[in-house]
Amino acid sequence: MAQAEAKKFCIAVIPGDGIGNEVVPAALAVLEQVGRKCEIQFEFRTYDWGSEYYLKCGRMMPAEALDLLRSADAILLGAIGHVEIQDNITLNGLLLPIRRAFDQFVNLRPAILFPGVKSPLMRSQSGTVDMVIVRENTEGEYAQVGGFVHHHDVNEVAVQTSVFTRNGVERVIRFAFELAMRRKRQGRVTSITKSNAQAFGMVLWDRVFEDVRSEYPQIQTESLLVDAATVHFVRRPESFDVVVASNLFGDILSDLSAALTGSIGLAPSANLDPLRRFPSMFEPVHGTAPDIAGKGVANPLATVLACVLMLEHLNLHTAARTLDGVVRRFLSEGKGFPPDLGGNSGTQDVVNDLIRKLELVEISVDQAAPRSS
Ligand code: NAD
Ligand code: IPM
Ligand code: MN
Repeated sequence: MAQAEAKKFCIAVIPGDGIGNEVVPAALAVLEQVGRKCEIQFEFRTYDWGSEYYLKCGRMMPAEALDLLRSADAILLGAIGHVEIQDNITLNGLLLPIRRAFDQFVNLRPAILFPGVKSPLMRSQSGTVDMVIVRENTEGEYAQVGGFVHHHDVNEVAVQTSVFTRNGVERVIRFAFELAMRRKRQGRVTSITKSNAQAFGMVLWDRVFEDVRSEYPQIQTESLLVDAATVHFVRRPESFDVVVASNLFGDILSDLSAALTGSIGLAPSANLDPLRRFPSMFEPVHGTAPDIAGKGVANPLATVLACVLMLEHLNLHTAARTLDGVVRRFLSEGKGFPPDLGGNSGTQDVVNDLIRKLELVEISVDQAAPRSS
């Protein structure tokens, strides 16, 4: 067990705001237990960046932040956002610049209806939904190109431009096909656009999808318009395997897929630089949840499952499978759930249960390829 995995990993940790400060410490406690069990040394470098830092220092993170993060093996992030600061300032001051600076061009968002978890869709049986959204993560509608004319005037004009480059579109679509080849669930890639209305960027996307798919004849494909895709997500969620979409559509659809698989409190996310030039960043799909922040009831499992994706990315497959297995056992037992899953346990109760299960688990060396990243 000790062999391939006995290495030290430096994880930069940014809990951020709101429930980020609850779910990240919870996930770190679980990860430490995984480290003890699997003989992995983690060095956690925790940064207090975020909205409180902004209120003190006038910026969301220090000028040298990206340099500090660059040397980490991975970044674990909670959530960013503050009720008193405009979201565009907080998110453009921390989360989005990290994604872009480290060219984390894939945002991977698995959505699994785990045995033991109920979907709000009464027809969906546990275990039948297992899809992963591959969201383009550095350009598209999030390119931050645009501006204001007659700023704050009655004649104000705002221009917000989407940017789609052939290279940017092709690399994320190719990643989706390669992932579908590895997953072998159904071997199906669904591309989602709005090319009936958006006649440039989305048309380029469709053309590139056509080109790339011809290289993967063994993979089934489907192209959907995003409005219809929301209908199909609800009516036939089990038919999706790998879904590839632009930055904004991937954002919206991954909240929908999270809800369909029981709760956004279960949905993890990996911002990947697949070329491994820079650290990748792992976070829950959810935000700071101001409505429940400070109550100790946030579901930590989205962040714990983000840690599973991080372990896979670091090639710590035994540790990843061990932690994933413990989460699955917790869910399938159907006990001790937090409120978003219909129970009344707190964040710490869930952590304690996972740590107890980890203490008892038998570690079996299994170097099989990662399942989803
Ligand atoms: P949200 O994801 O924070 O919350 C949506 C709903 O889901 C709320 O009812 C919340 O209580 C619930 N929820 C979220 N996470 C949960 C968890 N772990 N356990 C139980 N319930 C949970 O979305 P929002 O309310 O639109 O956004 C709040 C703030 O977070 C905003 O400032 C937004 O910009 C920001 N945000 C940040 C990120 C990020 O940093 N990655 C992601 C999304 C939203
Ligand atoms: C997410 C979030 C972010 C996004 C926001 C907070 C900028 O919603 O990670 O899904 O849209 O990417
Ligand atoms: Mn989102």
